[in-house]
Amino acid sequence: MTLLTDTGQHQLEVDFCGLPFATPLVLLSGCVGFGEEYTRVSGFSNRDAGAVCLKGTTLEPRLGNPPHRLAETPMGMLNAIGLQNPGVDHVVNAILPSLDFTETRFIANVSGSTVEEYAEVTRRFDDSPIDAIEINISCPNVREGGVAFGNDPNMSARVVAACRRVTRKPLITKLSPNQTDIAENARRCIEAGSDAFAVINTLMGMTIDINTRKPVIGNNQGGLSGPAIKPVAVLKVHQVYQVCKSHGIPIIGQGGVTSPEDAIEFLVAGASAVGIGTALFYDPLICSKINDGLIAYLQRHGFQHVSQLTGSLSLNPAPGACCTG
Ligand SMILES: Cc1cc2nc3c(=O)[nH]c(=O)nc-3n(C[C@H](O)[C@H](O)[C@H](O)COP(=O)(O)O)c2cc1C
Repeated sequence: MTLLTDTGQHQLEVDFCGLPFATPLVLLSGCVGFGEEYTRVSGFSNRDAGAVCLKGTTLEPRLGNPPHRLAETPMGMLNAIGLQNPGVDHVVNAILPSLDFTETRFIANVSGSTVEEYAEVTRRFDDSPIDAIEINISCPNVREGGVAFGNDPNMSARVVAACRRVTRKPLITKLSPNQTDIAENARRCIEAGSDAFAVINTLMGMTIDINTRKPVIGNNQGGLSGPAIKPVAVLKVHQVYQVCKSHGIPIIGQGGVTSPEDAIEFLVAGASAVGIGTALFYDPLICSKINDGLIAYLQRHGFQHVSQLTGSLSLNPAPGACCTG
């Protein structure tokens, strides 16, 4: 099987904001701890992913939400972890030195309750070996900040601009699907200095225990992830790509990927990289299988390189945008 293009580049290697990703796959924030979570699993290697996003990090340590924090749902999972993390100084001083930066690229995931907190956490990561910084303005599981910023284009742009002022590292803005016009939000974030997007974060949901008539999740509501959200995520990537393509701004498409076919859908919709989150909970070795499937697809369809798939969608001639019934 051919792995190199005519110019000697590996078929799966992508350039993401100037960072070399060995494959387009990215392990998603909150699903791999701080990059070490799965390294004890036999057969797992961070090298099978182009990048690993660390758990959401705030200025001060956070204990997170009361239990239950997870609930299985049909074709998905609800979570309300509440950004449990040891605080940025611990991540920078104790965790980053223990990561093997020869294996993959590491991306910080930044959260905050105020614009100033986002900027300060970003500034501290700027002064660290981290490869890139993802701003999570779309976390549905905290009372302040998070999705409250991400659903308002003005606030989103303010957070991005404040973070932009304190770092030259690649800035990835993680967009919320829980908003009216994700493309307009993306446009404002590009103006404010975002280099890339992660599309999408979880959708808000609730599940109820009918015996107690209480929500199963301690936080009452949580973020829905997994295959149930994939069609929503593919559409959002397509919409954001319409804004990004003329600026050359790459997207990490994500939401419910469990197979090479899912990853290909996101690439065709406009993603340059594809995130894997919930699927890791039941198959930590899934990345090597998806990489193999991507190479086989390129071979079968006569593509030289995975980047040729990005945005290769060919829409039907008369899409009935509003007529879904
Ligand atoms: C348990 C759990 C914790 C998460 N924590 C974070 C987080 O700290 N920061 C963040 O930006 N996204 C977080 N996410 C969202 C994921 O990174 C990802 O965007 C989402 O789950 C969709 O991808 P998936 O369907 O492949 O899981 C979390 C998701 C799960 C399931």
